[in-house]
Amino acid sequence: MFDKVLITKEQIDKKVKEISAKISEDYKGLNPIFICIMKGSMFFTADLLRNVTTPAQLDFMCVSSYGSSTESSGVLKIKTDLTTDIENKHVIIVEDIIDSGNTLYNLKNLLQTRNPASVKICAFLDKPDRRVREVKVDYVGYEIPDEFVVGYGLDYNEDFRTLPDVRILSRSVYEK
Ligand code: IMP
Ligand code: MG
Repeated sequence: MFDKVLITKEQIDKKVKEISAKISEDYKGLNPIFICIMKGSMFFTADLLRNVTTPAQLDFMCVSSYGSSTESSGVLKIKTDLTTDIENKHVIIVEDIIDSGNTLYNLKNLLQTRNPASVKICAFLDKPDRRVREVKVDYVGYEIPDEFVVGYGLDYNEDFRTLPDVRILSRSVYEK
């Protein structure tokens, strides 16, 4: 089922604390709003915010650019929108992983039309080899190779999100 554990729970905890410390420093006094992109980034967002020391707000969006395959469709579907007005706020989009870049490219553009004070992106994982859209990722946990990974919120057809670590899903699972 899995080729190997790519990132252990201990590595995740350490990296999350590093990113939280950096964001806490960069956003001191700015009362940023973290936007958790559901469902994949809910574990990462929760861990991040438990360690952020500057006052902050939280909202959610449920978006997808994936069907049931492992390829991004390039079209952003908003299933659930924010409940907060982000005008004049400092926004930090929190994503589980950036792959083609389609999701974050489209999402950042969309949020920018709502006149926030700033928009930055924080992604736990980055697969730079797969990028088709130029997107600036301001905070990154780990760069990973072009493999399909699951765990720590990341799914394959809704399975494996609850694994405590990040694992490479064997190609035999999705290449039929
Ligand atoms: P992008 O639009 O291609 O950048 O895709 C971003 C979204 O695709 C992420 O938010 C994930 O939901 C999903 N995704 C991309 N790569 C993986 C992976 O390796 N495992 C699980 N989900 C992935
Ligand atoms: Mg996602």
